[in-house]
Amino acid sequence: MRVLVLGGSGFIGPRVMRRLVERGHEVHCMDIAPDSPLLDDLRERISLSRGDVTLMDDVMETMAGSRPDRVLNLAYALGAGEADPHPQVRLNILGMDNCFEAARILGIRRVIYASSLAVFGGQSLHGAHAVVEDDSRLGTSLYAVSKIYNEYQADWYNRAFDMRITGVRPANITGPDKIRGSMNHVLCQVLPARDEPVRFPYRDTMTLPLHVDDIAEVFVRVTLAEEPRHAIYNSGGESISVGALADLVREFLPTAEITFDHEAGGRDASGLYLMDNSRLVEEFEIQYAPFRQRVGETINEIRRSRGLPLVG
Ligand SMILES: NC(=O)c1ccc[n+]([C@@H]2O[C@H](COP(=O)([O-])OP(=O)(O)OC[C@H]3O[C@@H](n4cnc5c(N)ncnc54)[C@H](O)[C@@H]3O)[C@@H](O)[C@H]2O)c1
Repeated sequence: MRVLVLGGSGFIGPRVMRRLVERGHEVHCMDIAPDSPLLDDLRERISLSRGDVTLMDDVMETMAGSRPDRVLNLAYALGAGEADPHPQVRLNILGMDNCFEAARILGIRRVIYASSLAVFGGQSLHGAHAVVEDDSRLGTSLYAVSKIYNEYQADWYNRAFDMRITGVRPANITGPDKIRGSMNHVLCQVLPARDEPVRFPYRDTMTLPLHVDDIAEVFVRVTLAEEPRHAIYNSGGESISVGALADLVREFLPTAEITFDHEAGGRDASGLYLMDNSRLVEEFEIQYAPFRQRVGETINEIRRSRGLPLVG
């Protein structure tokens, strides 16, 4: 199968493309930053071009040239704040629309895109309920509202043109090289792994981490599917407080310096941390690696890259 990945040079994209190539698929990646070192081991195995998803001509030219069976759009503004909305609206809304519209014009029925757990807003809006796909989308940040809009965009295209555009809502994706987006769960692993101290405001702040290799596998399976049963899937993740994650990190690094301004509190202001993913698990037979194992892998990847002794 031929897969076009838009925005594949970032955190999640290279892992998805590596898996696709290893399974014998042909991959073309278009990104505004095609020189990213994260693609170094892939350059010989995929085709790569520089392009901007906010420009319809770039998207059309790349899609027409690579003639994909599937398009996966990962290009987005992550962790950009709200001080300058215009470039984000262009990338998140117009970029996504260019991707859907170019696929429609070229007769490509299957498009896959990343939504986010952010669409639901904070957990306090949902009580103690683990949100399912059809629960209310109550997020109000620019990022959340953009993702909500993308989900409507996909529904409009699916209805109007009989397309099969499918969204995945990743939770807080975590891994050693994450630099944008939700970061407390990343810093709680990465800084101790470098033997550096880290401090957080609240021990009880909840988070919903999922390792980047696990979400990469989700994207691969959803991308390759011919007729997914649904238009949107929650990824799920490990519901854990930053304090409990710190305790887990200390199982590998007993002298890790992880401290908190407040030993209690922070739970009520947490983002979403209870997310039901049975739709995804049942249809795609997804089984995530045990979270403790992923924490150990993240710590060791950092330590290996810095020549530090590995942990058990
Ligand atoms: N990382 C997470 O925790 C997380 C959680 C939920 C959802 N998501 C979603 O998953 C997707 C991928 O996330 P990621 O962590 O890999 O993000 P990332 O920021 O690491 O990667 C995004 C990629 O898009 C590219 N890009 C930016 N502007 C572009 C443009 N105009 N044209 C073409 N490419 C452009 C960037 O160069 C980058 O390679 C995003 O839609 C994100 O919102 C991520």
